Amino acid sequence: MKNVLIIGSTGQIGSELTMKLRGIYKEGNIIAGYIPGAEPKGELLESGPAAVVDITNEQQIAETVSKYKIDTIYNLAALLSAVAEAKPQLAWKIGIGGLFNVLEVARELHCAVFTPSSIGAFGTDTPKDKTPQDTVRNPRTMYGVTKVTGELLSNYYYIRFGVDTRSVRFPGLISYVTLPGGGTTDYAVDIFYSAAKGQKFVCPIKAGTFMDMMYMPDALRGAIEIMEADATKFVHRNSFNIASMSFDPEIIYNNIKKYVPGFQMEYQVDPLRQAIAESWPNSLDDTCARQEWGWKPEYDLDTMTKDMLAKLEARYKK
Ligand code: SER
Repeated sequence: MKNVLIIGSTGQIGSELTMKLRGIYKEGNIIAGYIPGAEPKGELLESGPAAVVDITNEQQIAETVSKYKIDTIYNLAALLSAVAEAKPQLAWKIGIGGLFNVLEVARELHCAVFTPSSIGAFGTDTPKDKTPQDTVRNPRTMYGVTKVTGELLSNYYYIRFGVDTRSVRFPGLISYVTLPGGGTTDYAVDIFYSAAKGQKFVCPIKAGTFMDMMYMPDALRGAIEIMEADATKFVHRNSFNIASMSFDPEIIYNNIKKYVPGFQMEYQVDPLRQAIAESWPNSLDDTCARQEWGWKPEYDLDTMTKDMLAKLEARYKK
């Protein structure tokens, strides 16, 4: 990787990944792709080049890739699961129409492509605990349908055209820089904001509902390490299970309470998010990622909790 285009650079993952890549590849061009209305600001804007790149516009992607001699594209444009249920047509247009555009540009202009998949690629027929790498997917959500289709299409472009496509199935991602929007796992981010602001948290997911989660620094490292990995060791490509922790609302609440003793939580379950959460695995088995490219998480629930609270408390106590 030297010249990288991040499509969706102002989103939850993109805003941090762009800065991290700029820190690592100082000689290259790390282009922050964005759509009008979601312009980069502050450090993200000042630290490097930015370009309007609408994933639904193949021509615009191709022009940016040519102009900056891009060798790697991070395709981070997507609607998260609950929003995708509200707007399934748009979710398909961005998730699959957009991916098709990216893959076509990558085929013609010789780029590697990273596209995240998700725990949302799985469904109710999937084994729930320690979900294997290769198993039934059958998602019930449009988000999941786009993720499975994206995995298949990315593999197709590798097999048929030799496009270097790589992907991981991200768990719910927890971060303090940019808020996610419209996901099912977002509660595990929102709970930290409530704790740091001294507010009661209203939880939309039922006690006892387990999902895989990951702290953003691990997710960023995974996204970079898989693109840097020696692909001759790959048995899989699109997409690898990766995991670091699994919890339900009670477990994360009680862990936060160790550091914020007065913290309170009540439940107001959102039926849409609850149904989505129940269709997803409790925990993934990430053995293949560990064996094929050395994946290893650094954060567990407790180290993440301490870091999230420290970062957010510093912000809200100013
Ligand atoms: N975080 C995503 C969501 O909740 C899952 O990958 O939609």
